[in-house]
Amino acid sequence: MINLINPNILELTPYQPGKPEEEIKRKYNLEKVVKLASNENPLPLPQNVCDAIVREISLFNRYPDSDSYYLKEKIAAYNGIERDNVLVGAGSVEIIRMISRCFLKPGETVLSSEKSFLMYRGAAVEQGGKEAFVEAKMDEAFRFDLDNLSRLIDDKTKIIFIANPNNPTGTTLNRQPVYDFIDSVPEDKIIVLDNAYHEFVSNLDDYPDGIELAMKRKNIIVLRTFSKIYSLAALRVGYAIAHPETISYLGRVKGPFNVTRAAQAAAIASLENDDFKNKSLELNAKNREKLFTQLQNLGLKVVPSETNFLLFFPGTDPAELNEKLLQQGVIIRPMRAFGVPDGMRVSVGSEEDNDYFVSRLEKLL
Ligand SMILES: Cc1ncc(COP(=O)(O)O)c(C=O)c1O
Repeated sequence: MINLINPNILELTPYQPGKPEEEIKRKYNLEKVVKLASNENPLPLPQNVCDAIVREISLFNRYPDSDSYYLKEKIAAYNGIERDNVLVGAGSVEIIRMISRCFLKPGETVLSSEKSFLMYRGAAVEQGGKEAFVEAKMDEAFRFDLDNLSRLIDDKTKIIFIANPNNPTGTTLNRQPVYDFIDSVPEDKIIVLDNAYHEFVSNLDDYPDGIELAMKRKNIIVLRTFSKIYSLAALRVGYAIAHPETISYLGRVKGPFNVTRAAQAAAIASLENDDFKNKSLELNAKNREKLFTQLQNLGLKVVPSETNFLLFFPGTDPAELNEKLLQQGVIIRPMRAFGVPDGMRVSVGSEEDNDYFVSRLEKLL
């Protein structure tokens, strides 16, 4: 069998997501399980989004609009751009893979940082093998180090992924350094600004969302998702913003009917409900601050975060601690796979779930 496999695929390991609550309940025979593993919004969907999904159910016998026309129109209006600046995917992960399929030619490379989102590597390697992914070191504050990235750019570099804010460190880059970096990069390289957590950033005035640049420069792609602040992780919907020509090439590798009817309708309704977004932001800011302090009070090092998760260092083996937490019904993520072998990432959940996690952690430590 192994001889039949594309050698690039042999370099990949399946993405290991946070374990589902159901699995942990079953495995450890638990009634209560708290999941703080996948940077999800703890708030359930608001009524207007539920209603929009329910309205679609009677149409589930029909394929969805393959072009996500009305959702693109909504996203465009929301961001002050045109519909042909938008491409919608089944989560932004689908678009990350489309970008490498669309742009990466044999022998070319994808550049990003260590301690960042795993799918940049995955998308590079499936397309170009393990030599296709190049990783820069971070700075000491766990931020993307743009100087290190610049030093690694060469003739082979084709795509540069910048997660801002970054997962799993929760750190953010300010506007000017990112814009200076973009200016310094030759225009024959694609720069992807992955804004999955941008809504959580406190000072948006100093935040480089890149949309303005993407309108002018064909090599800039901005990524957004409905999985985080909008609570739609289960429905899989994200989008790219770029120049119409860039979007049209990406559209060539998009699968047909990639975004379900329910997802399209829910995403449209989400953009009509800023109250829910603001409520989520407020709750996250409050709960994150408390959780940050609680972890610090346990004597642990915690990285200051602009997102809905915290990277912390338990000072003990994360794999062992993780297993004990699972037995207690708490799901978080050890970060070895993300290049932080001594770190763990916990999502900011409801106050009750966070407190439950902290109480179990305190006992175990
Ligand atoms: C930095 C970053 N980008 C993209 C994604 C993908 O999100 P989705 O595919 O759910 O849109 C995630 C998810 O955790 C992420 O952390």
